[in-house]
Order: sequence, then C-alpha cells, then structure tokens
Amino acid sequence: MRTPPPAVIVIFGATGDLTQRKLMPGLYSLAAQQLLPPETAVIGVARSDLPDEEFRARMRAGVEAHGAIPVDDGVWEGFARRLRYLSAPFDQPEGFARLREMIAEKDARHGTRGNRLFYLATAPEFFPVIAENLGRAGLADEGDGTERFARLVVEKPFGEDLASARELNARLNVVFRERQVYRIDHYLGKETVQNLLVLRFGNAIFEPIWNRRYIDHVEITVSEDLGVGTRGGYYDQSGALRDIVQNHMLQVLSIVAMEPPARFESRDVRDEKVKVLRAIPCFDAASAARDAVRGQYGPGWIGGERVPGYRQEPGVDPASNTDTFVAMRLMVENWRWSGTPFYLRTGKRLPRRATEVSIHFKAAPHLPFATTAVESVAPNLLTLRIQPDEGASLRFLAKVPGPQIDLRPVSMDFAYGNAFLRTSPEAYERLLLDALLGDSTLFARWDEVERAWEIMDGLIHHWSATPGPFPNYDAGSWGPEAADALMARDGKVWRRL
Ligand code: BG6
Repeated sequence: MRTPPPAVIVIFGATGDLTQRKLMPGLYSLAAQQLLPPETAVIGVARSDLPDEEFRARMRAGVEAHGAIPVDDGVWEGFARRLRYLSAPFDQPEGFARLREMIAEKDARHGTRGNRLFYLATAPEFFPVIAENLGRAGLADEGDGTERFARLVVEKPFGEDLASARELNARLNVVFRERQVYRIDHYLGKETVQNLLVLRFGNAIFEPIWNRRYIDHVEITVSEDLGVGTRGGYYDQSGALRDIVQNHMLQVLSIVAMEPPARFESRDVRDEKVKVLRAIPCFDAASAARDAVRGQYGPGWIGGERVPGYRQEPGVDPASNTDTFVAMRLMVENWRWSGTPFYLRTGKRLPRRATEVSIHFKAAPHLPFATTAVESVAPNLLTLRIQPDEGASLRFLAKVPGPQIDLRPVSMDFAYGNAFLRTSPEAYERLLLDALLGDSTLFARWDEVERAWEIMDGLIHHWSATPGPFPNYDAGSWGPEAADALMARDGKVWRRL
C-alpha cells in the first residue's frame, strides 16, 4: 500500500457539490483504509460564513449520502478533528493571509511538514485569481520540491477554448510550475480506464492485432440517461463537446491508440498519449461540416417518465444553442492507425447510462462456408465496458449445434464484479491519493490539454457561430438522425447498447 506523507489539504469551493459528493467521500475513504497519515489536515475554504461544527456536519452528510462505504463513528471522529473551515472571498488577499496562519498552525501542531495540496473545486473563473493569491501569500513555494511540496489540483473545465486555456495556463504558471499542477480528468481515475492499459500492455495477444491491418474501426460511447439536472447554468456555457469530448473522450482515445510506453511512469505514459493527439487532424470548417454532428434534446420519455427538453431545464436559456449530444469521426494519422476511423458519441438524455470502447475487427478475408450459413456473420468485436457493469467481452463466431454448418456470434465475458471480490475505488479517491503521492501519471499534462483544445477549436467556433437545428432528438432516443447518417456514410452503424 502506498501511503503519502502528511499534508494540509486545502479545498477551495468547500461548500459546493463536488466537495460533498466526491472529494470528502474520497478523503474519508482513504482515511478509513489508513491511506491518509493521521497528521493530515483538511481546510475547506468558501465564501459563506460557517462555523467549523456546521461544516463538519455537512461534510459527514455528504460522505453518508455519496460515499462508497458506511461511515464509522470512530474513523469519522479522527478525520473530523482535523477538518476546519475558513470563510474567505477567493479574490481578496486578506483571506489568504489567514489561510497561511492556519496552515502554519497545522504544520506546528500536527507535523504536516510544510506539505500543501490546494484543490480548486470552484467555478472556473476563480482558478487564476486563487492561484495568484496563493502566490502572493507565499503558499505556492515548495523550494526545489524535495523537502516539501505545494501542489495545485485544477478541476475541469480547463478553459473553454484554445485561447482561454492558454491564458489560464499562463496565469497559473506565473505562480506554479508545471510539475506542481495536477489537471484532473476523473476518467483517468476510473479502474476500467486504467485497465485499458493493462489489457493492451500486460497481454501479448492483443498488440500484434492492435492496428489498421486488423481493426476496422473503433467506437467510443459515453452515454448518459440523466439530463443536466441542477447544473444548467454551467452546462449551458459548456455543452457536450467541451464537457465530455475534449477531455474525457480524447483521454480514453489516446489510451486506446497510444504506443506502448517504456515504463508506467508519468512522463513516458503522457509522452505516448500526446503523440496520439498530435496525430489527429484539427477540425476546420470543411471537416466540421463533414465529420461532426451535434444535437440537443427536446422533451421525451425516460424509464416511463416524461422529461422536459433541454431548453426547459432550470438555468438554461430558452433559446439555447448548446449541444447536449455530439458524434464525430476522427482519424489518427500515423503508421498504426491511418485508415481506421475512430467514432465518438456522447449525449445526455440518451436511453441508458453506458460508457464503452468497442474495437471492431475486420471481417475474415474469406469464409469457406455455404452462403446460407453466414448470413448472420458478425466480425470480431472486443468491447471494453468502462461503466456500469464494468468488464470486457470478445465476440466471435461459433457453430450452432446440428447436422449442418450454421454460424452464430457468441461472446466470452469478463465482469469485474465476478472476477474480483472487492469494489473498485472511486476515481476521485484514487486521484487524490496520487496527487498526495506526487504521481501525475493519471493527470493531464499541459501539452495534452492544449492539443485537445487545438483539435476541437475549429469545431467549437464553427458551432458557436452557427445556430444548431435544435432541438433535434427526443429525450430517451439515441440522438439525432444525422449521427446515424455519419456512420451510414462509411457503411457502418452505431453499436446498440
Ligand atoms: C463530468 C461532466 O466531467 O463527467 C458531467 O461534467 C458528466 O456532465 C460526468 O455527467 C460523467 O462522469 P461519469 O463518471 O458519471 O461518467
């Protein structure tokens, strides 16, 4: 087990949703497994006035409601004793002077040795100003990083297009060096996403066929049945392309397509991932019109319930031009992948929640069976189920028992739930631990984030300048017809999930 050194963890945006739902449950779970040293202290910072006791009670409620394990009174007591709250506006230096005092006191009383992990879980407009105020208060300094650390974990969205991401990064870099910045993409914290690396690079049988010669196309789907819920205000400024495709899906794609890294270490892994992104051509007006489809849901039915359209959701502009669905075709122009399309599809209010990667292999070059036997022939398919129902399956043809040769596709299945008698840690739990340990392998490096924006920038601007044909799919359907047409043009269909 890897145990990090003691540290003070400071969460900005401590009264927000992310802290309640993900960060506190993640930290509590680490504490319960004794993966957090007992000296660790947590300071929540937000604007509202809140006594420590009230903050602790709210955090406990969050852990109880969203945590993966039941709360144990003894463990909670120990954890809560080191939980403090500081009310401070993010854009004024005074609060940061108080923060510095609190941290110094923790260092002296609990032996946190000057180690600091700052987590930006606020609205994105506060990211640079918080970093600047930390710098002014002298809190970003870690010397040469060997004796103590000061790290900044930055939530998404990291910018809203290429220019704003560059500006944000430049402002963070005035205060924090790249090695101190941990850009979260929680998909990388998912066990099943890490398992893609193990499947590819821990087994010898996949690598020889993992290329354009054997793989016809790759499909990556992130489908959600939920709508935007209470996040309409944020989402309406973002949309599916920025919210899911530019980050989570391009990260998954780069793991599927990368070359084997020499070592499973942050530089090697991230070097290989960014090479994939560099091989993907950037969208321009022509490819935006040809290879990408956007959608926005109208009212419909999900699970037998009538649900409103996107434009009727709270916080959303009734004439909104925001995409809640994206489908696209990307090419990775290198020796391994040239000619093998990658199809990406994501949407809100689709019929079910499912994230998966499917590797569609080419059909057998010749089938020596009677044509009547091969009507239902389906090429091999390797499906990696990221969530839910985590696992993988391989489809192949088998002979139907009987006197003649009839073929039917069957599958071999691996399910995490059956194979391992333990539950997977939550993505945030894993990533918090890694950030405390100083392991940035599962965080996005700046050149990856920048390249991901470069690829999508032309599309983002093309779409924001032209009104979408919205709404163009019913809640509870698989998205607009144009998404099917995108596949049909290449003689393919989306996998039915
Ligand atoms: C977040 C997006 O990054 O990922 C949300 O902002 C989305 O809109 C969520 O619902 C999906 O995450 P997961 O882990 O449920 O697939």
